[in-house]
Amino acid sequence: MSTETGAPSGTEPRGHRIVQGPRGLPLLGSLPRFGRDPLAFFEQLRGYGDMVRWRFGRHDCLFVADPECIGELLTETERTFDQPLLGIAFRTVMGNGVVVARGADWRRKRSLVQPSVRPRQVKSYASTMTSCAVELAGTWSAGARVDIKREMAALTQKIAVRTIFGVDTPADAESMGRAMDIAQQEIGKEFSGLGAVLPDWVPTPGRARIKKAAAVIDAEVGRVVARHRDGDGERPDLLSRLLTAVDETGAHLSDKEIRDETVTLYIGGHETTSSTLVWAWYLLSRNPRARAALAEELDRVLGDREPGIEDYAQLTYAQAVVKETLRLYPTIWLVTGIAKEGARLGGLPVPEGTRVWSSQWATHRDGRWFPEPEVFRPERWDAEQGDEIPEYAWYPFGGGPRVCLGTRFAMVEAVLVLAVLARRFELEVDPGAVNPVPTLTLQPDREVMATVRAR
Ligand code: HEM
Repeated sequence: MSTETGAPSGTEPRGHRIVQGPRGLPLLGSLPRFGRDPLAFFEQLRGYGDMVRWRFGRHDCLFVADPECIGELLTETERTFDQPLLGIAFRTVMGNGVVVARGADWRRKRSLVQPSVRPRQVKSYASTMTSCAVELAGTWSAGARVDIKREMAALTQKIAVRTIFGVDTPADAESMGRAMDIAQQEIGKEFSGLGAVLPDWVPTPGRARIKKAAAVIDAEVGRVVARHRDGDGERPDLLSRLLTAVDETGAHLSDKEIRDETVTLYIGGHETTSSTLVWAWYLLSRNPRARAALAEELDRVLGDREPGIEDYAQLTYAQAVVKETLRLYPTIWLVTGIAKEGARLGGLPVPEGTRVWSSQWATHRDGRWFPEPEVFRPERWDAEQGDEIPEYAWYPFGGGPRVCLGTRFAMVEAVLVLAVLARRFELEVDPGAVNPVPTLTLQPDREVMATVRAR
């Protein structure tokens, strides 16, 4: 790998250089430190420089913190960087859906799924998002004690099940939701535990649980797909859109592919959005000025009516609250790629096989792009200040060809849910810090209890 001394002259057009990070232990490198606290470890790597060499077990790694290099890593994914293969838990649940698929198969799937989450389609899911939030608001009252983590998980689950599968009957939604919960938990455990390094054939209790959950999901989704195929007329859910999608040869998705894509969208979108909302409530609770500014906007834009998609563009402060939440608590906190032959970053060659890492957590808390980075300040995102933030200094939804397919869906959902609930209530989260735990997503480390206050 090229270093400050090894780079051929003239290959540092932007003044980038690769510096040596912590050397770690023989054989293990920095694996133990990463394993103990990956968020702190990435922040520490950022302290070394913008391109830092380190070792993860036997793998040579490069950590990048510079937005230009991050942009290159993301936009070159699929061309000069491969994504690491996902573990057996992912594959058991998501099958060969768009998150798991690679190469030509991924391109075909992405082009088939993308139309179902375009802004025009998200518009038609927005009323479901609002009505689910209104239903939840109906169960809250002044003085009530709520576990926000549990409430937001149940709410986003209901929204996902209704918008993706169009399932309305509580029984259907419940058994599907329960199986998805188990699947999601096991994927998270595999991602952050021993499961990631065990060979696929080793049986573990977690793998048995996930197989069982996947069987329930198969049966439930199969039933819903059959009902849709038999049904008359178009339904306004995502599954209906996937059933009519055709690829360039005119072929439809098979039942198995429909199952894989709907489950992928569910798993990709549920916990990410639910955690974002939990962090948003937590941050609002600790920042009275931001809470007041949000309340002022909701009163001004909505008065006493419920929000709809037509209000989204006007709810700029609510959007800024979500963006600032995703800056401080990026639910997806890690991006990786494996360099192929000819890969380059910042004008420097990256040897084939190098694992390149970047972390939203570390970049989003970099004082060069975000002054007073620890402070929750939605005003950063107003028209003037927001323009100064370099591209890829903020990338909670990734970027490049594999950018999140649900970006618009998630932003609209988070803004509408906040608007419905914050119009009526304030949530006073119990004193004490809530810390992030980096599993597959950045989760609060415990239940987040709050008292509901009427506005
Ligand atoms: C706040 C909420 C969300 C966050 C922070 C988020 C973040 C991300 C990120 C960072 C990626 C790229 C991962 C990579 O580099 O491989 C991604 C991919 C993806 N997301 Fe999201 N996501 C969110 C919500 C959603 C929602 C609501 C959906 C579905 C409706 C969704 C569906 C997907 C899919 C299908 C992909 C894979 C795209 C591909 O590989 O081509 N996400 N998401």
